[in-house]
Amino acid sequence: MSDDHERAVARHYQVSALTERILKAAAAAGLDTDRLTPRDLGPIDEFHIGGRAATKHVVAKMGLTGSEHVLDIGCGIGGAARYLASAIGCRVTGIDLTPEYVEAARVLSARTGLGDRTAFEVASALRMPFADATFDAALTLHVAMNIKDRAGLCREAARVIKRGAALCIYDVMQGDADDLRFPMPWAQTPATSHLTTPAQMEELLSAAGFAVEDIEDRTRHGIAFFRERLAASSGPAPALGLQLLVGPDARLKFQNLLEGLERGAVAPVVMMARRRA
Ligand SMILES: C[S@@+](CC[C@H](N)C(=O)[O-])C[C@H]1O[C@@H](n2cnc3c(N)ncnc32)[C@H](O)[C@@H]1O
Repeated sequence: MSDDHERAVARHYQVSALTERILKAAAAAGLDTDRLTPRDLGPIDEFHIGGRAATKHVVAKMGLTGSEHVLDIGCGIGGAARYLASAIGCRVTGIDLTPEYVEAARVLSARTGLGDRTAFEVASALRMPFADATFDAALTLHVAMNIKDRAGLCREAARVIKRGAALCIYDVMQGDADDLRFPMPWAQTPATSHLTTPAQMEELLSAAGFAVEDIEDRTRHGIAFFRERLAASSGPAPALGLQLLVGPDARLKFQNLLEGLERGAVAPVVMMARRRA
């Protein structure tokens, strides 16, 4: 994967002065921005299909006890990390390509009193700045669809987690057709969109040393999520909402994604894998 490609991905997600914008929107929503809770940040914190409910669902599948040090690969602004730290008690390290997201993740974690249990770094999923076997578990939520070198992602994930550790991948995967309408929330054009089928992903994970234990298609939930969201967002957008991350064409991107889900062209899929002992 070229650095040019990663720069193009980061440019897609980059929002100038993102942290200030989020704090301003939180204040406009009547929140105390010095003492935020993960719940307060719910409307913006989770940049994946199904939002916080989906995070809870995939985290429950991982069977964590709270004693683990978890890696969030492509952590965005840190919503899943804060959920894991506050609700389960884990220590969480997040990495992400987009510097504005990492800065927001740090500031929002400090403002929610979770700065001591979460840490965030700008880094690529293909070159993670960690020693072998550092983490007890890892997750990656709606990130792999931007990564062309999937074999590299799987190898790097296998390297940094311990033997026997769980890896949860929740991703938009390729369905029956490849004629997607763009822009999508993760890519303005097909140039930075690299979907694989669940079968291809299973093969890559297996080659990297994982055993895939469970594959769950969440299309039905995804369709319900976007139908509800699009119906609710026909009026003015709330101050604190995903449009801050997704941009002024958020509605079009969500409509395109809903269309792809309804047609079976894409599917949100949760894959639970375990590093072979
Ligand atoms: C749709 S957002 C999901 C963010 C977060 N996981 C969430 O669910 O809220 C995709 C994220 O993946 C990150 N990303 C894409 N390619 C990456 C890579 N090669 N390494 C690290 N992060 C990457 C982007 O910067 C972006 O923050």
